[in-house]
This record gives sequence, structure tokens and C-alpha cells, in this order.
Amino acid sequence: MTQLLWIVGGLLLAFFAFFFAWRVASNYFTLPCPSGLGWMLEGSLVDWWAGTEKTLDRMQIAPGQTILEIGPGPGRLLVPASFRVLPGGRAIGIDIQPKMIAKVEARAKREGVTNLTTMVGDATKLELADASVDLVYLCTVLGEIPDRTAAVRECFRVLKPGGWLSITEIMGDPHYQSRGKVQHLAEEAGFALERIDGGTWMFTANFAKS
Ligand SMILES: C[S@@+](CC[C@H](N)C(=O)[O-])C[C@H]1O[C@@H](n2cnc3c(N)ncnc32)[C@H](O)[C@@H]1O
Repeated sequence: MTQLLWIVGGLLLAFFAFFFAWRVASNYFTLPCPSGLGWMLEGSLVDWWAGTEKTLDRMQIAPGQTILEIGPGPGRLLVPASFRVLPGGRAIGIDIQPKMIAKVEARAKREGVTNLTTMVGDATKLELADASVDLVYLCTVLGEIPDRTAAVRECFRVLKPGGWLSITEIMGDPHYQSRGKVQHLAEEAGFALERIDGGTWMFTANFAKS
């Protein structure tokens, strides 16, 4: 029995040490969530746990908008968001990992999405024109980007005046960013806080580009 407790304790310790080391290292190196773990971001259980529909509601997506998701992973939010901007709107997904882009494209094809453009790219160097997007959103991505200041500035650059930046963070993500940190980064880049929905466990912060 004592031996079993030591083994379980050791495994838990190793898990938390890995979790912590990954979080710290992500401040210095690009270490995105491996595409092999993409399955963890899909399925109805994840939709429930991570509040997919609730997050989309909080972002205030509207028909006709051009929206950009940075770090869509396998498309948990981006695929349903593409339908929400119809009629007339278009969705763009930019992810640093080609394998994640392949996953989101496959899902979009399966679900009959026709208004989605995807690109492999880095949040800190978006290959989009200035003032070309109505809404940029990131969900559990910010903490994976070592230069978060540059990424939020890029969001500001590509947004139209009056456009929106929406950032969702969920506790349990090894790269979780607090509300204070998110607000500080956004305000530093020139955004004004509009509203924060949710609590510490899971929140969506919406900012306006005036
Ligand atoms: C934890 S997943 C979140 C996926 C999705 N947003 C969701 O909530 O289901 C983080 C995603 O951000 C992407 N990512 C990490 N760093 C990035 C960067 N610098 N530029 C663009 N995408 C990045 C990763 O490749 C990964 O697909």
C-alpha cells in the first residue's frame, strides 16, 4: 500500500513538474500544444467542458463580419464560428502548426464550410493587411506565444477601427493567463476594455479598437 502511494505521488509530482516547466519554457521558446494532442480539443465532452457555444456567444460574432482566429487548433471554435458570420461573412484561421491547419481544413470540409481561409503563420507576424478584420479572437493561445506583446499589437494592426479583440482563457490550460495580465497586454496595445464575462475558472475579455 505504501509503495503504491509513493508511485501515485511520484507520478503526480512528475505531471505537475512537466506542466510547470512547459509553462515557464513557453515564455522563452515557441512550444505550442502538440498537434498529436489535437484530439483533446475535439468532441462533445470538450465542447461542454470548455464551453464552446458559450464562448462563441460571448464573442458577439455577427453575420457579415470578417473574423480571424489565431491558433484555432483543430477548429473547435473556428468551424462553428464560420457558420455564424453567414450570410456574407468570412472566417480566417492562422496557426503556427501545419498539422493543426490540416486538421481544421479536414473538419471544415466534413462540415461543409465554404467561407473559411486558413494559413500557417505566427501570431506575431500576421500576413494580413492593416484594418482588414472586424473581430480577432484567441482561446487558450496567448500563453503559448513567447512575445505576447507583439501578438496583441498585431491584432490591433489588422483590426478595423471599431473592431473587436476577444480573448478567452480556461484554467487547467498549462498556459493560462489571468484577467489582469490579459487586460494589461490589451490596454498596452491601445485597446479599451468593453466587458469581461465569466469568472477566474473561464473568462472571455472583449476589447474595442477605437
Ligand atoms: C491549446 S490550442 C487551442 C486551440 C483552440 N483555440 C481551442 O480553444 O480549441 C493552442 C493553439 O495555438 C497555436 N499556436 C501556438 N502558438 C502560436 C503562434 N505563435 N501563432 C499561431 N498559432 C499559435 C497552437 O499551434 C495550437 O493549435
